[in-house]
Amino acid sequence: MSTLPLPLPVILLLSGSLRAASSNETVLRTARAAAPAHVRTVLYEGLADLPHFNPDDDAEPLPGPVAGLRAAIAEAAAVLICTPEYAGTLPGSFKNLLDWTVGGTEICDKPVAWVNAAAPGRGEGAEATLRTVLGYTGADIRDEACARIPVDRRTVAADGTITDEAVRTRLARILTLLADAGRGPSA
Ligand SMILES: Cc1cc2nc3c(=O)[nH]c(=O)nc-3n(C[C@H](O)[C@H](O)[C@H](O)COP(=O)(O)O)c2cc1C
Repeated sequence: MSTLPLPLPVILLLSGSLRAASSNETVLRTARAAAPAHVRTVLYEGLADLPHFNPDDDAEPLPGPVAGLRAAIAEAAAVLICTPEYAGTLPGSFKNLLDWTVGGTEICDKPVAWVNAAAPGRGEGAEATLRTVLGYTGADIRDEACARIPVDRRTVAADGTITDEAVRTRLARILTLLADAGRGPSA
């Protein structure tokens, strides 16, 4: 009897930047390009479409973009975040995204990690805020998969990905760690 192949674990890639030439999205595009064969990545592209969070609207039927966000998180085995720091904390638009996750259960217990793409010594306020906010959502923060990978614009190719093999290898490793965490303890 033939057995169907197991579906690949999906890692949802969340960028906290709306900037067209975003270095954070560059990291996530590179992760997508460098993903190992046993992982499927989905780059979330709905950040700009999310309405401002209002608890009155956090009820069925949810606004379409919010339902889309929650479905994307629900379908993912794990989440990888890459966000800039603005004024010592997260960009308001990305904090808005995280606020929309609080009222749902999708991110609760979900393995989540982040990559800090800022220059050395920078971006620590964003990391601290991520830890606080994700703590409130009940996400399973995977420290072993969190990393600092400063983006050197000279290594970004025309396709918008980082060519440095060491960076690509690290990102592939992060995706593997998240996929393993998303699979849970083996029986
Ligand atoms: C309004 C604003 C505030 C910023 N505040 C900080 C900050 O507090 N700390 C920091 O390290 N960088 C800060 N930056 C720099 C950004 O984090 C940096 O430019 C980052 O590369 C932007 O990410 P992106 O390229 O993905 O858009 C700020 C940038 C802007 C536009």
